Amino acid sequence: MDLAGLTRDLEALRDDALAGLAAAPDAAAVAALDVDVLGRKGRLTGVLRGIGALPAEDRPTVGAIANTIRGEIKDAIAARGRVLRSGELAGRLAAEAVDVTLPGRPVRRGTYHPIATTIERIAEAFGQFGFVVYEGPEIEDDLNNFQLLNIPPDHPARDLWDTLYLDVEGHLLRTHTSPGQIRVMQSTAPPIRALLPGRCFRYENVAADRNFEFFQVEGLMVDEGTTLGDLKGLLDQFAQALFGAGTRTRFRPGYYPFTEPSVAFDVECLVCGGVGCPACKRSGWMTILGAGMVHPVVLQSGGLDPERYQGFAFGMGVERISNLRHGVGDLRLYLENDLRFLDGFR
Ligand code: PHE
Repeated sequence: MDLAGLTRDLEALRDDALAGLAAAPDAAAVAALDVDVLGRKGRLTGVLRGIGALPAEDRPTVGAIANTIRGEIKDAIAARGRVLRSGELAGRLAAEAVDVTLPGRPVRRGTYHPIATTIERIAEAFGQFGFVVYEGPEIEDDLNNFQLLNIPPDHPARDLWDTLYLDVEGHLLRTHTSPGQIRVMQSTAPPIRALLPGRCFRYENVAADRNFEFFQVEGLMVDEGTTLGDLKGLLDQFAQALFGAGTRTRFRPGYYPFTEPSVAFDVECLVCGGVGCPACKRSGWMTILGAGMVHPVVLQSGGLDPERYQGFAFGMGVERISNLRHGVGDLRLYLENDLRFLDGFR
């Protein structure tokens, strides 16, 4: 082998490598060609083995040629790699393209239950007058639910509040939020302005206007010199705040063992505007709460001196108030968890 032959072999190797690169379909093929041609045991090394047979003065010439060719091949490998990579990127960009003009998928969000919203509105209205929210337990004892509220065992008024009794002696599901009055009086010194929302239970003939499970908000104010006039003024303000200025209201005499005197508080039926409809039993009025001046015996149950303190209390039906606000005619709907109904309150 002489100088000319070796130079030809090197040039042939370069042409072959460049042709192979031009045809390489992907980055893996380029990498394989790199190893095959320039690798430690590659074809270039193989050709250069012939250098030993050349006369010493020719060797630097062949070395220079070999270096140039190695550089050319290296550059070509890098260039082909770049071309292939940008092609792959373009391909991926095209394949994975996102159409940002498509409308988004809506996220289904929850919302507040109308009972929760109504309680919130009631608490807001009374909060303006300094009332603070407390909570009592749903499982009560006979003492708090009845006896301390001036309803002794065998009192005929118990028929109004029959309920579900627990296996635990003397315990029941509370029939109203009024036992909260006792708990607040026993734990808080006057002046008291308490609001007690919560779930109640009764043994009921279920109908559109009564359920065996329902919500009440109890109110209690105790101070020196509290009068029935304060109660009337407060409840009237409350009705204006919740149902709008100018809403007509009325008080009627009522009876509860734990208040004396007792009243019922009516708001004009907002379903029919007061002309009479099935929702108000054609009376034009909806009774939304019972109230009265706290009975002296109940003040004593709460550990307070009735000679010094007076108070008033009221208990309202949350479903009835929600009915009025939203024109709903059947309070059973609130606890059926039918989304077609609940979605209407979004
Ligand atoms: N607890 C009574 C009821 O459930 C309502 C009420 C509360 C009446 C407070 C007077 C005072 O019917």
